[in-house]
Amino acid sequence: MGRKTKRFGMLLVLLGAAGVAGAMALSHESSCPTPAASPNASDTTGALVYTYRCYGGPEVLHLTSIAAPTPADTEVLVRVRAASVNPLDWHFMRGKPYLMRVVSGMGAPTEERIGADFAGTVQAVGARVTQFRVGDRVFGTRTGAFGTHVIVRENGAMAHMPDSASFEQAAAVGVAATTALQAVRDQARVRKGQRVLINGASGGVGTFAVQIAKIYGAHVTGVASTRNVEMVQSLGADRVIDYTKDDFTKGAERYDAIVDMVGNHPLRALDAVLAPGGRMIIVGGPNDNAYLGPVTRVVTAMLAAPVLTGTFISFTANENKADVAMLREWMQRGALRSVIDREYAFAELPAAVAYQEAGRSRGKVIVKMP
Ligand SMILES: NC(=O)c1ccc[n+]([C@@H]2O[C@H](COP(=O)([O-])OP(=O)(O)OC[C@H]3O[C@@H](n4cnc5c(N)ncnc54)[C@H](OP(=O)(O)O)[C@@H]3O)[C@@H](O)[C@H]2O)c1
Repeated sequence: MGRKTKRFGMLLVLLGAAGVAGAMALSHESSCPTPAASPNASDTTGALVYTYRCYGGPEVLHLTSIAAPTPADTEVLVRVRAASVNPLDWHFMRGKPYLMRVVSGMGAPTEERIGADFAGTVQAVGARVTQFRVGDRVFGTRTGAFGTHVIVRENGAMAHMPDSASFEQAAAVGVAATTALQAVRDQARVRKGQRVLINGASGGVGTFAVQIAKIYGAHVTGVASTRNVEMVQSLGADRVIDYTKDDFTKGAERYDAIVDMVGNHPLRALDAVLAPGGRMIIVGGPNDNAYLGPVTRVVTAMLAAPVLTGTFISFTANENKADVAMLREWMQRGALRSVIDREYAFAELPAAVAYQEAGRSRGKVIVKMP
């Protein structure tokens, strides 16, 4: 064996060892500290929040009592009345795919609070806050929404609730509707008269995406199972394909944009049903790869780009005030509504997260605070 071949062999062994060490570090899980006894979920005297101090299933979520937070000068304290559950909550809870632990914490979560979408009333405002007053009904997105109180920056992703919306309807909006808005408007760039397909039309993101694509004047095809066909039609879809009977990638129809929450079709098959210049938006994908999860599909799309004719795009939603305000306006004039599947009591929050994780929700899963 030549010296160069030996060196190359050594390099491969070192790279392999580094890869194994990296994979072990990413998947390592610290043991769970014993939590203090849970307070009563209906006790409204202080602030109650769900926290988690290790990765795992819904059993790692514990109700904890904390000192009532005080807003800083440019912050608002919201008394949360309802929250909604998103896939991102159980991704954080489990620390999966493992790759996300680079951000969420190696071995154990660095942020103890969980939850994103909330609706409630303003309980206190900082000295320099001008846009909100005590008693205002507000909704939006902020880490720690699974609690009775959350602190939000005045310029954070929060707006006044539409007049006629309930706390449950407003709490449903957050991440799912913002993702749908950014997928349809910014990534798919949907214009009047275009043909748009929403794969996963009955889920949290999909129910909003169907309505938003209609607001932008598209001809909308939703893909859902038999039990959800009528519901997706009621959201304004021009056509609904029942995926238990038909495969849209085998049909004759061509789409200017596909917004895909499911990731259950090969990229080549999706490419084949895109119209010339068509855009395929990867919002979600399968979770079967423990290390990369949906990122696998994103990487595959990047590698396959030279042989695909359409534009394949993946993106991560960016929660912001302007988009929450836009969603609020549409709700206010009746163009957008939340679809609520189930409502859980605060004490049942771990069950709500487990139900969302099962992947069969019709619209959104809500948790009501006491
Ligand atoms: N990129 C981002 O920034 C971003 C943001 C938010 C969410 N996401 C991702 O987007 C995905 C969707 O999120 P979500 O909140 O909408 O999830 P979800 O509410 O849990 O979606 C559940 C829905 O998906 C439907 N579904 C399951 N298999 C299907 C199939 N083969 N064809 C069509 N529909 C199917 C289910 O209907 P049936 O039970 O009838 O099958 C159910 O109604 C997730 O992977 C999430 O992680 C990404």
